[in-house]
Amino acid sequence: MLSVQWQTMYLKDEAATFAYAQQFASELKAGDCLALTGDLGAGKSVFARAIMRALGVEDEIMPSPTFSLIQSYQGAIHPVAHMDWYRLEGSEEILLAGAQEYLYAPWISLIEWPQRAWELLPAHSQRIHLEYADLLTDRKLTKSHL
Ligand SMILES: Nc1ncnc2c1ncn2[C@@H]1O[C@H](COP(=O)(O)OP(=O)(O)OP(=O)(O)O)[C@@H](O)[C@H]1O
Ligand SMILES: [Mg+2]
Repeated sequence: MLSVQWQTMYLKDEAATFAYAQQFASELKAGDCLALTGDLGAGKSVFARAIMRALGVEDEIMPSPTFSLIQSYQGAIHPVAHMDWYRLEGSEEILLAGAQEYLYAPWISLIEWPQRAWELLPAHSQRIHLEYADLLTDRKLTKSHL
């Protein structure tokens, strides 16, 4: 059976993004992988930070892992990996960087610019797409399967 499931919402400011992430994170389990898409500045890193805080990450969170590629943190229950594949060329480079182990349990992974290597993502990954909306502080979020 083909089932299409998606959900759209408008987040009126960063606080709304954090509130949504709180609810979202409560449903995450080991091995979950979130593919975060959207233009530069659309809010992928803010959303990732909100999820990590909701998962109980208390360490300082790097604004963006662009330069280090993978940042790992310890949440209250799960270890969490935040990655940004923007600067990478493709799956070979991503594999060489050692990203693959973070895509599976016990990790929860958050990936910005997953388009660089869709083929590496586990089939059960969820996609979170962020877009600019009407106002400067509004964002439209669409959640779907890959
Ligand atoms: N509703 C909102 N939710 C989240 N961020 C918002 C919202 N409205 C405005 N912003 C702002 O949008 C910006 C999002 O920046 P962020 O670094 O998260 O983008 P990004 O998608 O990760 O970009 P990049 O592709 O460069 O990594 C921040 O400056 C944030 O304050
Ligand atoms: Mg970012």
